[in-house]
Amino acid sequence: MSSNRSSFTGKIGFVLAAAGSAVGLGNIWRFPYLAAKYGGGIFLLVYIALSLTFGFSLMVAEIAIGRKTQLSPMGAFRALDKRFAFVGVLGAIVPSIILPYYSVIGGWVMKYAYGFITGDAFNMAQDSYFGGFIGQTWEPLVWFALFIGITAIIVLFGVEKGIEKVSKVMMPVLVVLILFIAIFTLCTVDGALDGLIYYIKPDFSKFSIMTVVAAMGQLFYSMSLAMGIMITFGSYMKKDISIEKSTKQIEIFDTGIAFLAGLMIIPAVYAFSGGDPEALGKGPSLMFGALPKIFANMPAGTVIGVVFFVMVFLAALTSSISLMETVVSTIQDKFGIGRKASCFIVLGISIAFGVPSSLGYSAWGGVKILGLQILDFFDFASNNILMPIVAFLTCIFVGYILKPKAITDEVELEGNRLKHKKTFNIMIKYVAPLCILIILISSVLDVFGIVKI
Ligand code: TRP
Repeated sequence: MSSNRSSFTGKIGFVLAAAGSAVGLGNIWRFPYLAAKYGGGIFLLVYIALSLTFGFSLMVAEIAIGRKTQLSPMGAFRALDKRFAFVGVLGAIVPSIILPYYSVIGGWVMKYAYGFITGDAFNMAQDSYFGGFIGQTWEPLVWFALFIGITAIIVLFGVEKGIEKVSKVMMPVLVVLILFIAIFTLCTVDGALDGLIYYIKPDFSKFSIMTVVAAMGQLFYSMSLAMGIMITFGSYMKKDISIEKSTKQIEIFDTGIAFLAGLMIIPAVYAFSGGDPEALGKGPSLMFGALPKIFANMPAGTVIGVVFFVMVFLAALTSSISLMETVVSTIQDKFGIGRKASCFIVLGISIAFGVPSSLGYSAWGGVKILGLQILDFFDFASNNILMPIVAFLTCIFVGYILKPKAITDEVELEGNRLKHKKTFNIMIKYVAPLCILIILISSVLDVFGIVKI
């Protein structure tokens, strides 16, 4: 165990750092498109319910594992039980699958920031614009290369701290801006209020197992769970800081931003399309189609568009840096190679997976893996297959090998109390593993087309 592991200073330092890593495209791009697609209010309800029970327990467990062992995820699992070392390895694979396609979307964000800066706002508000852009072979690839290139340079030269500082200052501004855009849309766009109702009022007839599958995948993704990230954060956390309180704060922060992003996008899409399910079910392209239209109707829309996309770019960049950093240090540890070499390996992997993800919308548009577009396939494989497996094994590990008491004792150090101890025990031993198993099986059955759920 390393005794001189540096710690986060102050109480709020930990929460800010963890929330900073958690907030990214998952909140602004992914949450709204899933919520729109899976029935609006019902998705929101399921998401919040999962976050309070299951997300809470898993995050507490991961942070406590990290703080207890003071080790990296792989080291932590190995130190506690050799047979579970592979869970740490599986968890480390997740960010290496996410990073490439994350960077493709990051490239789209850069393109939109650039478009607004160069005065292309009017064109970007046209219906066919986004499809035309991703339908080209080269342009999206260039933006992807730029995004992953910037990420790699920052990680290579170790200047993450500077970027993180900038983005932390910008985060509150981004939140205010999202809120402003949401309120503006609700007040000025005809039909947006119906869209608001669609977004917040649960329609139980739209519920299906796939709602839960999607919500759970999103929960992992958005809170950076089931991939060792929170274990790493926990290993830097001081013993006197309350794990329970920090977890709640991170969850409120992360879910709050996702909720606001939905508020900004979904009512607008609903209003523009008259509630057309096809428009709402658009998937990854939803945000890019809707936002330029909102900006086109807004006074000073071009300026706001520039500021908005630049800030989303920064939020995406801090996440991609942290994703890359994780993979780089894992490869360094595992194979005992230098940082530079490891950076280049990760860059290579990212290009190898990122290029097909981007081409999946153009030259390789006909290629489908298990019926999914290439980018969607990577997204599905990490969020709906690998992460549930890691989460399931983490629950089994904590519930039956390590025993929940080891975790609750860690949480209760230095006079902190775990208020929801009972919930935690029941969740981690019974409810969570069982639910994950059901969900995992359903999503596998669904994607292989065995049962249409
Ligand atoms: N949670 C991040 C988001 O919402 C994405 C993400 C997943 C991430 N895993 C991560 C970010 C690991 C940093 C590190 O966009």
